[in-house]
Amino acid sequence: MKDELWYKDAVFYQVYVRAFFDSNADGHGDLAGLTQKLDYLKDLGVDCLWLMPIYPSPLKDDGYDISDFYGIYPTYGDVKDFKALLDAAHKRGMRVITDLVLNHTSDQHPWFQAARSDPNSPYRDYYVWSDTDQKYKEARIIFLDVEKSNWTWDEAAGQYYWHRFYSSQPDLNYDNPAVQEEMINVMKFWLDMGIDGFRCDAVPYLFEREGTNCENLPLTHEYLKRLRRFMDEHYPGRIMLAEANQWPQDVIQYFGSGRDEFHMGFHFPLMPRIFMALKREEREPLVWILDQTPDLSEYTQWCIFLRNHDELTLEMVTEEERQWMWEQYAPEPRMRLNLGIRRRLAPLLDNDRGKLGLAYSLLFTMPGSPIIYYGDEIGMGDNIWLKDRDGVRTPMQWSNTNNAGFSDADAEKLYAPVIEGPVYGPERVNVADQINDPDSLLNMVRHMISVRKQYPVFGWGKFTWVFGEAPYDSSAVCAYLRHHENERVLVVHNFSGSSQSVVLRPPIEIQAAVPVDLLTGKTYTPFEDNRLKLDLAPYQYLWLRL
Ligand code: GLC
Repeated sequence: MKDELWYKDAVFYQVYVRAFFDSNADGHGDLAGLTQKLDYLKDLGVDCLWLMPIYPSPLKDDGYDISDFYGIYPTYGDVKDFKALLDAAHKRGMRVITDLVLNHTSDQHPWFQAARSDPNSPYRDYYVWSDTDQKYKEARIIFLDVEKSNWTWDEAAGQYYWHRFYSSQPDLNYDNPAVQEEMINVMKFWLDMGIDGFRCDAVPYLFEREGTNCENLPLTHEYLKRLRRFMDEHYPGRIMLAEANQWPQDVIQYFGSGRDEFHMGFHFPLMPRIFMALKREEREPLVWILDQTPDLSEYTQWCIFLRNHDELTLEMVTEEERQWMWEQYAPEPRMRLNLGIRRRLAPLLDNDRGKLGLAYSLLFTMPGSPIIYYGDEIGMGDNIWLKDRDGVRTPMQWSNTNNAGFSDADAEKLYAPVIEGPVYGPERVNVADQINDPDSLLNMVRHMISVRKQYPVFGWGKFTWVFGEAPYDSSAVCAYLRHHENERVLVVHNFSGSSQSVVLRPPIEIQAAVPVDLLTGKTYTPFEDNRLKLDLAPYQYLWLRL
């Protein structure tokens, strides 16, 4: 059983295949290239890769617009390359999950082509059509900067079709049982090939109903539960991870009763509050959101992240907080996109090692399994001059050689330019240099992961806030206890750029424990009267084993 719960304390890594490593000098990363780099990921401590879409696609939304659910985008390789990748990963004890895009297809998908050109085609009813664009008015528009409506007129069909994302991504009609069957067949195909599960894209939007905002509908949950039953019956031990950008009380619904819907869900509302807390030098945003985050059953897990391939979404904050985040983190209009910020981790945190350390320390110690977005482990920069979210999807920087060691193609053939400049260019930011530098960001991240892996408390443990004892408290100090069986770790962060002294009193009895910082091996003055006095340096963080 414990084996089947591998995701409870796995370290995840998100890969954009096109950006990772180009094995055949055509300027695009590919599956064979990723396979060649698996040792790097293994060495970093990665347990499971999430591959962004690798299927045939016109790439109007980087592969989230799928034109064939059963193939591989030819530039990335073929099914044989994919199997080789799976084998090589499994041989190293790593797992691989892929994107399952349930909500929509590309408008180039043969289903949609048939649907739009023939009203009598069995595929017509695979999509959501209407004679007016006035239905489902309460549904929000997600790609606000580009789309003005969730309905687009189709000349050939003589009707409007429904889409929650780009108009090139028509929504599938889940009221049609044939669609429900199709997607189970798609799952079966990839599970039979040996993948370890799915990151399920955009799951709140499967069904539409008048008079609702068309998100999180009971019918949607019902269908997702059916997918889970199918997985449990035929593929135990494989997982479903939900992308549901929702408030905790809504996202929690995706875990069902604990064992009958998703195994994991991204914690979207937590993410922007990490950046709020760091900028305000205050723990309050984190306390607020984690206090509203219900405990999960032992069979489910949050997936926590700092950044991903999309804009840093500000959907799960108030209007006022959003404005503040934009002012603080995206002063230039080009840095903003839809309701978010299209920048990478290192530039967001001023490329400051203290702040990056804090962010990673939170990622690896808060409740959930962490996921790292490719390139953030070396502190890659972004390129706000590229369109849409392309600026955070540039080539991985392997070395300070031609094309950052990403590809042997001529630079003009690369799918996107390598980041340039004195701060984030490959001269300053690359894997090869950081591997050899014990003080590099890469080695810091690797060290944190290796420590985390020795202590199941981080994946399995309960979470309890520990506040300073008045008057020795500081709102800049964020401390919590992780506890599991006999293991207890007190994690302490100083979000402030100045020193802070606190007296911490954990809510459990601790007698004569001499706290040892798991990261440095340094010991601290023992508890006295269940109290621990700490003088924290600016941006210091400690993982104190009690
Ligand atoms: C998800 C993906 C995003 C994509 C969208 C539509 O939100 O993360 O990249 O554009 O779904 O598929």
